[in-house]
Amino acid sequence: MFSFIMWLLVLQFFAIFLLFQVNCLSKHPILIVVSYDAFRYNFFESEELPNMEEVRHRGVYADHLINVFPTKTFPNHHTIATGLYTEVHGVIGNSFYDPLLKRIVTISPDMYNYNDNVIPIWRLNEDFEDERYSGSMMWPGGDFFYQNKAITWSMPFHSGSDWYKRIDQALAWIQDPFKPANLVMIYFEEPDTHGHAFGPNSPTVKNLIKKLDNITGYLHQKLKDNDLTDKVNVIHVSDHGMTAVSPPKFVNITQYLTNGTYEWAGASPAIQIIPHDGYEDGIYNALKAESEKHNYKVYKKSEYLTRWHYGNNRRAPPILVMANVGYALDDLIISAPKYALKYNFTLTNQSEFGVHGYDYTDPEMHPYFMAVGPKIKQKVKVNPFHTIDLFNLFCVILDLPPTKNNGTMLPSNEILIQYGYATSTIIMISVGAVVLVLVLISMAVIFTLMLIKRQQNITTTAALNKRFPQTFQNYIEAQHLLDTEEA
Ligand SMILES: *[C@@H]1O[C@H](CO)[C@@H](O)[C@H](O)[C@H]1NC(C)=O
Ligand SMILES: *[C@@H]1O[C@H](CO)[C@@H](O)[C@H](O)[C@H]1NC(C)=O
Ligand SMILES: *[C@@H]1O[C@H](CO)[C@@H](O)[C@H](O)[C@H]1NC(C)=O
Ligand SMILES: *[C@@H]1O[C@H](CO)[C@@H](O)[C@H](O)[C@H]1NC(C)=O
Ligand SMILES: *[C@@H]1O[C@H](CO)[C@@H](O)[C@H](O)[C@H]1NC(C)=O
Ligand SMILES: *[C@@H]1O[C@H](CO)[C@@H](O)[C@H](O)[C@H]1NC(C)=O
Ligand SMILES: [Zn+2]
Repeated sequence: MFSFIMWLLVLQFFAIFLLFQVNCLSKHPILIVVSYDAFRYNFFESEELPNMEEVRHRGVYADHLINVFPTKTFPNHHTIATGLYTEVHGVIGNSFYDPLLKRIVTISPDMYNYNDNVIPIWRLNEDFEDERYSGSMMWPGGDFFYQNKAITWSMPFHSGSDWYKRIDQALAWIQDPFKPANLVMIYFEEPDTHGHAFGPNSPTVKNLIKKLDNITGYLHQKLKDNDLTDKVNVIHVSDHGMTAVSPPKFVNITQYLTNGTYEWAGASPAIQIIPHDGYEDGIYNALKAESEKHNYKVYKKSEYLTRWHYGNNRRAPPILVMANVGYALDDLIISAPKYALKYNFTLTNQSEFGVHGYDYTDPEMHPYFMAVGPKIKQKVKVNPFHTIDLFNLFCVILDLPPTKNNGTMLPSNEILIQYGYATSTIIMISVGAVVLVLVLISMAVIFTLMLIKRQQNITTTAALNKRFPQTFQNYIEAQHLLDTEEA
């Protein structure tokens, strides 16, 4: 009887062990965030995207998202990762002049380490409690240190590296037996890279969109094959859209400036001008005088629109030139023939190039959003929301208390299933409860058996005590007798 119960116990502990070991997954909620750079919100309309449509209609989607100013890659990816406006996280452009460093900053730790208050979701996830591991598969800024620490898993950006391997690696991180990631950010540089050279309407971009549909299908098929579909939440987003611009709409602004009186940084449509001392007013006035005629706008730092949340930062330039939507500036005059050379096409007035970075109020700059997973509602369309709100959404999915940020909780409430726990968690809790009850019952049985045995002993003692003189000493001796007998 006793050994049978011991066996039962051993089996139960083995079952508990199996429960946590078999699929080597994190015990924390799991989230994958996927970004397709420059995937415009309405690419769905013009293309046949069966895999993306399937995900879109299985879970939650929005017609578009509202991103942040300027609608460039690094500022927007970092806003997605932090819930902060550009002026707060400090990545105010894909390149910019930093007056503290006194040089132009391009992608590097300097770009992202604006200050220590900026905590991206991957850092927050790892620091919150033990056994949370984050992964960055080429996410812009994901492989740098924050708060002087690297995350567990990260792969720096490598242009053109195999897309299927990116997915395979990300899923391997999630299923790692020792440090299973519960958050992975995955980045794909298309259709942005080729979109700049060929324009968003080109057959090249159309093919890339189909290729991205295929990789979407690949990701979700692999989740299914690994029995992860109801364990992993997946959010698909992009950083911005793209619009087509042709050479007749390239505007030369250097012709209004004097060489040697300023520095510049950035790219169309947003060129940052850093005048040398004493030239501020001259440069601003010269640019302003030509702006209306030539389809661009010029802003002093004091004139930046408040709703951009861009100017309150040392890195925001003293003067910003913004081409009107559909126009581009000097950098494209220079790079257009380079694209033609690189990709072997003839540059004409009809050639189209892709540009983004305009005000986020331009619909062509809008990104897309769709999400599926155990914590996400099914077959629901939500209103367009702001990309600053994504950080809170990630936090709620990951069971993390969000750090102070610029987003709201409203989209999270509409997107997520309201009961506090996902189905998988409920199953885990139920199985756990059953196991616990079994353990308690066995312990109760063992305890009862021991009590019965002890009761029998006491009864025997009492019987002995009846037969022998009723003294305390005798009782002790009798007990002692029994004890040795028992041993
Ligand atoms: C992706 O493309 C490959 C090659 O064309 C094809 O074999 C595969 O079925 C596609 N996968 C999906 C999910 O569309
Ligand atoms: C290209 O466009 C510019 C500006 O509109 C125009 O001056 C030029 O003649 C055009 N060139 C050709 C070859 O059409
Ligand atoms: C802009 O115009 C000026 C003056 O004509 C010229 O020197 C400069 O090369 C032009 N810039 C570009 C990018 O073509
Ligand atoms: C502009 O000025 C810089 C130095 O300030 C000089 O090196 C460069 O050659 C000048 N370019 C032209 C086109 O004059
Ligand atoms: C470039 O394009 C031309 C015309 O389309 C073609 O004849 C030529 O072979 C191409 N060259 C390369 C290096 O692809
Ligand atoms: C954005 O959030 C940061 C961090 O909490 C805060 O300092 C800043 O004032 C916020 N900006 C706006 C416009 O609310
Ligand atoms: Zn981008």
